[in-house]
This record gives sequence, structure tokens and C-alpha cells, in this order.
Amino acid sequence: MNYDFSDRTIIVTGAASGMGRATTIELKKLGAHVYAVDRNYSALKDTCEETGAELCEMDIGYSDQCDALIRKAKTERGKLDGIVNFAGVIKRNGLLECTDEEFDFVMNTNVKACFYLCRAAAREMKAQGFGSIVNVSSIWSDIAAAGVFGYCVSKGAVSQITKSAALDLAGTGVRVNEIRPGETNTAMLASERGYKMSQEEIDAKLKEIASSIPEKRLANPSEIAASAIFLLSDQSSYMQGASVTVDGGYTIC
Ligand SMILES: NC(=O)c1ccc[n+]([C@@H]2O[C@H](COP(=O)([O-])OP(=O)(O)OC[C@H]3O[C@@H](n4cnc5c(N)ncnc54)[C@H](O)[C@@H]3O)[C@@H](O)[C@H]2O)c1
Repeated sequence: MNYDFSDRTIIVTGAASGMGRATTIELKKLGAHVYAVDRNYSALKDTCEETGAELCEMDIGYSDQCDALIRKAKTERGKLDGIVNFAGVIKRNGLLECTDEEFDFVMNTNVKACFYLCRAAAREMKAQGFGSIVNVSSIWSDIAAAGVFGYCVSKGAVSQITKSAALDLAGTGVRVNEIRPGETNTAMLASERGYKMSQEEIDAKLKEIASSIPEKRLANPSEIAASAIFLLSDQSSYMQGASVTVDGGYTIC
């Protein structure tokens, strides 16, 4: 399928790493103007220098800053065609160990920031009559995993943000869909394990995870980027409130 994003303005959050970085690289190859958003300045600078994406260093956990980001894109470019909300965090704690602070930390980025950006983008997109919002939940938004309580809760909420927003916006020209990635080979997959495990143990754990997936491997970030680009494009014009699972068969077992 040939995509042409040459007249498109797209915001990608979490662009410094993993799936957000892979999506920024692909969108730039397809000609999009990309606002690359992340709070990790040095890694974001690398993404932007490599791709030519526009660097937007920010923490998306603040409503007013999310509003300002959307306004900036709209004012500078005249329109906003799409946004992909990849930025996310994880804490590997179960219900009994999860502190108030850890719960808030996860909810602030994964849920509240997703809401702030969906709302701000939807307002501009509804006024212009078109736009595609792509959220990123997880296989843990539907089924649960032990030991990652706040994360599972947050990703369930992302799925509801997607479906509720899709219904509120249906018929306006604005579409809201989500990607539901499985275990993907990024910094997040190995993160938050170090305080309990040595590097060797982490490597062994990732191998064990890969062997538990029907496809017998982790996803590459570019395989998630491919779905993001499809959902941003006109090729997915009849998709509204949909969840695209990209998990190597994990959730069919
Ligand atoms: N890696 C996986 O196995 C996996 C599986 C399912 C879902 N996901 C989800 O996919 C998305 C992308 O994950 P990834 O694996 O590429 O992660 P990653 O850790 O490689 O990248 C996430 C990026 O988000 C940025 N970020 C986090 N909080 C932010 C904030 N408040 N403001 C600005 N930037 C912020 C980080 O700095 C980082 O660059 C996340 O929402 C994650 O929950 C990941």
C-alpha cells in the first residue's frame, strides 16, 4: 500500500524511543511534517536530527501544555491531520505493593495526558472537519497481568477513552482508534525490572516472554509503527473506535 503524507501534519508523543521513534522515522520518510514530542531531550534530539522532525520537548502530564502543543501545530501549519499518543510509563508492582505515588505517576501519563491530548486535538479537528487520533493501549487493557496493577488499570482506561471519544466524535470527520501492542522490543519492556533482577536475569526473562508468544518472538517497534501509519491514513477511513491488536497471537490463546 502506498501512503502519501506529504501534506500532512502529525504529532507523535513518545518520539524519543521505541514505537514513537519508529513511527516518526516512517512518517518522515512518507513526507509528513512531524511534531516529535517527548520529555527525554537528549534522545529526542537524536530522533529529530536523524529524521528532520520538529523537536517538542515537553512533559505531556499538564493540561495547559497539551493545549498549547495542539494550538502551536494548528497555528503554524494551518491544520492538524493526526496525533499518535505513544508516550507511556510502567511500574512493575502488584496491587499490594502499588503506592499512591506510583499509581498517580502511571495514571498521569498513560490516562490523564491521553485525555488532555485527545480533547485538545478533537476540538481543533472537529472545527476543521477531519483528523485521526490514535491511542496506544496494550494487550493488558483487556486481559490482565499479575504484578503490573497500575499499568493494567491505565491501559484499560485508554481503551475506554478511545471508544467513548469515538462515539462522541462519530460523524464529525474525526476518527479515534487504538493500537493494542503485544510484547515489543523497546526500552519499556526491560525497564523497571533492574531493581529486582541482574542484566542476565532480564535477558532470560525477555527470552522466556518471547517463547510464550505464538510467533515465538517479540515485536519490532517498526511493526507497531506500520499500524499507526495505517490508522493515521485515509486507508482506514471507515475505522472508528477500533482496536488493532498487534501481538503475534498472544491474546488468542
Ligand atoms: N513495549 C511494549 O512491550 C509495550 C506493549 C504494549 C503497549 N506498550 C505501550 O506502547 C507505548 C510506547 O511504548 P514503548 O515500548 O515504545 O516505550 P518507550 O519506553 O521505549 O518509550 C516511551 C517514551 O515516552 C516518553 N514519555 C513517557 N512519559 C512521558 C511524559 N509524561 N511526557 C513526555 N514523554 C513521556 C519517554 O521519555 C519515552 O521516550 C506506551 O504507551 C506503552 O505503554 C508497550
